[in-house]
Amino acid sequence: PGGSVEVLERIDSTNTELMRRAREGHCAPTLLVAEQQTAGRGRLGRQWLSSPGDSLTFSLGLPLAPRDWSGLSLAVGLSVAESLQPELPASALPLKLGLKWPNDLWLADDRKLGGILIETASFVLPGVGSGFPSSLWAPAAATAARYVVIGIGINIRPRDAQGFATPPACLQDIAPEMDAPAALLRLLPPLLEGVQAFAAHGFAPLRTRYAARDLLAGREVLLSDGASGVAQGVGADGALQVQTPAGLRAITSAEVSVRPR
Ligand code: BTN
Repeated sequence: PGGSVEVLERIDSTNTELMRRAREGHCAPTLLVAEQQTAGRGRLGRQWLSSPGDSLTFSLGLPLAPRDWSGLSLAVGLSVAESLQPELPASALPLKLGLKWPNDLWLADDRKLGGILIETASFVLPGVGSGFPSSLWAPAAATAARYVVIGIGINIRPRDAQGFATPPACLQDIAPEMDAPAALLRLLPPLLEGVQAFAAHGFAPLRTRYAARDLLAGREVLLSDGASGVAQGVGADGALQVQTPAGLRAITSAEVSVRPR
């Protein structure tokens, strides 16, 4: 309601643009798609590189009532994976589309297919009567809310593997006929539903579905503080459970790398 959809030929980064607008007070629901990003960003200060036509890059900005957002990237990843590959392949490996905690879409052969970057800005929602379309996403009364920017990048076509440690996967590996517009149309309705469900109920109800797409479960992982252990799935709050020699740890934000098979 009251939102807009924009497709830009070129922008530095769709996330940067929506965060810029939020700081200037533009906090309406917005879907911003870019054919080309000149400074696409990933998590932890990394770059997201893509050339026009080889990937789907967009951000969704939504005013949302405050809550614990830590499980949102898992909910988003789950919606995207389930919509782009509704049926798990009978022989699961290697073309299963799954999730690498906390924000990556991977194929089960350990190649990255896409990533999610979530950023938030705080703002004060005007009260009822201001014309702000608040009913669906945020409370009607004047209240502090967050503008949540969900950025998604998905490799669509095979691309030049130069510069990548592991050559990335692309959507056409599992759905040869799908191009960027088709992928966006496919994933958008479930994504909006998924975000709305997360805003209402949090991550806990999604835990079983997440487990079916969890590509880390049972694998040895290395944590950014140097510890290692075996991933045991995620908790009701979305934290990654890792069994280490020192005991079970719940990881909320550290980077996790997986030992190659
Ligand atoms: C990651 O892999 O660390 C996350 C990558 C997120 C990339 C998307 S592309 C659209 C949006 N705009 C950006 O600058 N980044 C996200």
